[in-house]
Amino acid sequence: EEAVKVVLEEDPTKPQAEKVKIGHLESHRETRVRVFGWVHRLRPQSQMTYITLRDGSGYLQVVLKGDLVKNIDALDLVTECSIEVTGDLKHVPEGKTAPGGHELIADWWRMIGKAPTGVDAYASLFNDHLRHLDLRAETPAAIMKVRATVLSAFRAVYGRHTIMEVTPPCIVQTSAEGGASLFKFDYYGQEAYLTQSGQLYLETCLPSLGDVFCVQESFRAENSHTRRHLAEYTLLETELAFIDFRDLLDHIETVICEVVDIVLADSTAGKLVQELNPAFQAPTRPFKRLDYKDAISFLNEHGIMFQEDDPALPVRPHRIGDDIAEAAERKMTDMMGVPIFLMNFPRALKAFYTKKITGHEDFAESVDLLMPNVGEIVGGSMRLTDVDELVEGYKRDNMADAPYYWYMDQRKYGTSEHGGYGIGVERFLAWLLNRWTVRECQLYGRWPGHAAP
Ligand code: 4AD
Repeated sequence: EEAVKVVLEEDPTKPQAEKVKIGHLESHRETRVRVFGWVHRLRPQSQMTYITLRDGSGYLQVVLKGDLVKNIDALDLVTECSIEVTGDLKHVPEGKTAPGGHELIADWWRMIGKAPTGVDAYASLFNDHLRHLDLRAETPAAIMKVRATVLSAFRAVYGRHTIMEVTPPCIVQTSAEGGASLFKFDYYGQEAYLTQSGQLYLETCLPSLGDVFCVQESFRAENSHTRRHLAEYTLLETELAFIDFRDLLDHIETVICEVVDIVLADSTAGKLVQELNPAFQAPTRPFKRLDYKDAISFLNEHGIMFQEDDPALPVRPHRIGDDIAEAAERKMTDMMGVPIFLMNFPRALKAFYTKKITGHEDFAESVDLLMPNVGEIVGGSMRLTDVDELVEGYKRDNMADAPYYWYMDQRKYGTSEHGGYGIGVERFLAWLLNRWTVRECQLYGRWPGHAAP
């Protein structure tokens, strides 16, 4: 086909074309519209070219005919070009399908930004070095859309339960989850860290604002190359005053279930969950409750062994006191096939602030929520209410207590039984959307050794 070297001019005698986002086109059917977007797919045929145009709000079939495929720009029309196009928005012909149920019969278009040939973003290979282009593909974009809906659903649910959002700082001088995984940096000549958790700050808000939550990046300098560990991830944390351990468990399952309901009912996100994870079933309440000691028995009854840190040592059955490693936890969770509240861990495995079980002082009022395919997505506990017990906790972990003066004041000025939890947003998404790894669930991946783009 010979390209005719003409530059197309928009016909000024045509009706005014309103500029509309693709996702809002339905109410503009049978009118002339103007759309901007990126060429997602291109299907040239003998007399016409079909484009799937994408603008983030949706996908639109555009039909170019006649001069519109013979003009000079048409030579450069490849996927990932950005274009402007006007035309009549029509119902798709009987028996045909297109996104949104309509197509744009173009009467004019122009190239805005050319693209090199060979960009195949919609194929999505989860290429982290080309993440900026890969994000244009359907699956990564779908995950990010569900992610946005999940975050707003959590905010809606917390609003419903009168839990207020606060935004603690990311620059801190205390550790919440152990010094070994702190990213340290120089802060005007002092040592400071990137936050692991907003929890300690949330606790100080209780007497001022009541129940609170925050959504904040958490930084973990762990060298864990697993399907579910990131160096930076989004942590959603909540702290509740004047509760007991049962209240905490009931609250967590209520929040998870209400969030899932909102997401599934959302016209965009609900469909995307269906597409990405067709087998997904909303969990039913109450969640299974499993005592740590019973979990140890389960592992041993099913031949799931314990591996010491030193891989040269032989595997052995689990003993009370052992941490349950990721692989073992995942096997157990997948065998049970339902959400599990794994409760009452040995205190030695838990952070300094975790409350003891009265009468079983070596164990803690702590809980992890385990989900099939991912394992732990939530970690939470009741907190110590007494200053002296906190001081013991710092001693146990070889921590100086002075930097925590403000945290201890929480216990000196009207202490309260309280507790809370943190939800790993990427892990929640990996569960909801059946992703192989949490790396697919963040905008730009941050895992050991990887911080670009
Ligand atoms: O269990 P964690 O370390 O608990 C806390 O940070 C508490 N301060 C939370 C609280 O009680 N307010 O982390 C909470 C959750 C985990 O259950 C997991 O979902 C996620 O954060 N998480 C990670 N996600 C990705 N990469 C990592 N390296 C993660 N570490 C924890």
